[in-house]
Amino acid sequence: MSLLEVLSKPFPLISAPLAGLSDLPFRLINRQFGCQYAFLEMIHARSLTYENIKTLDLLRTQESDTPLGLQLLGDEAPFLKLAIELLEKNKYKHDVLDFNAACPIKKITCKGEGAALLKNRRKLSSLIKVLVKNSKVPVTVKMRLGWDDTVKAVDIASSIQDAGAQVVFVHGRTKIQGYSGEVDYPAIRKIKKKLTIPIVASGNILDPFLAKKMFEQTGCDGILIARGGLGNPWIFKQISEFLSKEQLIPRPSVNEIAGIMKTHLNLYMGHYGPKRGLWNFRKFFVWYTRGMNNIKQLRCRVMRVSSEADMLLVIEDFKQTAAAAN
Ligand SMILES: Cc1cc2nc3c(=O)[nH]c(=O)nc-3n(C[C@H](O)[C@H](O)[C@H](O)COP(=O)(O)O)c2cc1C
Repeated sequence: MSLLEVLSKPFPLISAPLAGLSDLPFRLINRQFGCQYAFLEMIHARSLTYENIKTLDLLRTQESDTPLGLQLLGDEAPFLKLAIELLEKNKYKHDVLDFNAACPIKKITCKGEGAALLKNRRKLSSLIKVLVKNSKVPVTVKMRLGWDDTVKAVDIASSIQDAGAQVVFVHGRTKIQGYSGEVDYPAIRKIKKKLTIPIVASGNILDPFLAKKMFEQTGCDGILIARGGLGNPWIFKQISEFLSKEQLIPRPSVNEIAGIMKTHLNLYMGHYGPKRGLWNFRKFFVWYTRGMNNIKQLRCRVMRVSSEADMLLVIEDFKQTAAAAN
């Protein structure tokens, strides 16, 4: 199913691009809980054309990892074009090519990339046109509401549509807000009212109530689950049940969470190998156990584990700790 097909269904839930996090294991776990579409993390067009090993590693996927969106970052038309050629040569299986005009990180924006493009609408349009002209799959764009205010948000979104993008992802904050502060629902709504292409909204989708609020207050066609899904993949199921049947399903039991952690760990070990797999899983243990009582000691232990067997013991002990705390 393509992104556009996903967006034609009620309440589409999409796993957001998350640098350093939305890798294959993360996407597979989310898909198990009903995520309908998932994004890889942003890929820098220039690094991709250099065939940098670390960058190519980000592209790893498998048959069941569909439908899948790929996001490019950059501000140099020749490299964006070359990146598309390379992706097509390798028959990469993404069904949309997203362009990043949202990343607020200084080392990106100081080069004129990511959210910096919001200040240069002409350049943003010309880069989107290059992507549209060269890409065999539909081009989409992820934007923020503006650099430091939202005055031009609708104009930016309109020029993205006019340049040929088929979907706009809107993170409802400005670049200056970074990842904190209020999400501006009315500003997203104005964009939705003006554009004719689908709008996917992002920002603070942390529980089923906030998901409902985003759909109701903006009229968006879909939502992106980002930080709300970290160590919380069942959020996809919770939101879906709440929006379709008004049913609030509880957080999984401690035993179920331990089982999900084991599956996640196993995916990490298979994907990255024992050393990096363990290393990458640690932060997820912290997220999976967020808000739990008496967990500090186990979290410290997790930082010292040196084998999969040790990690499995910590997960077993987590069950005892969580049961004792309730
Ligand atoms: C650690 C982290 C990495 C992110 N990486 C990307 C990225 O690669 N591309 C992108 O467009 N947005 C990225 N984002 C932004 C998210 O996709 C999302 O739009 C943002 O976090 C707002 O949603 P939230 O408030 O629900 O987390 C990232 C956000 C975080 C916290």
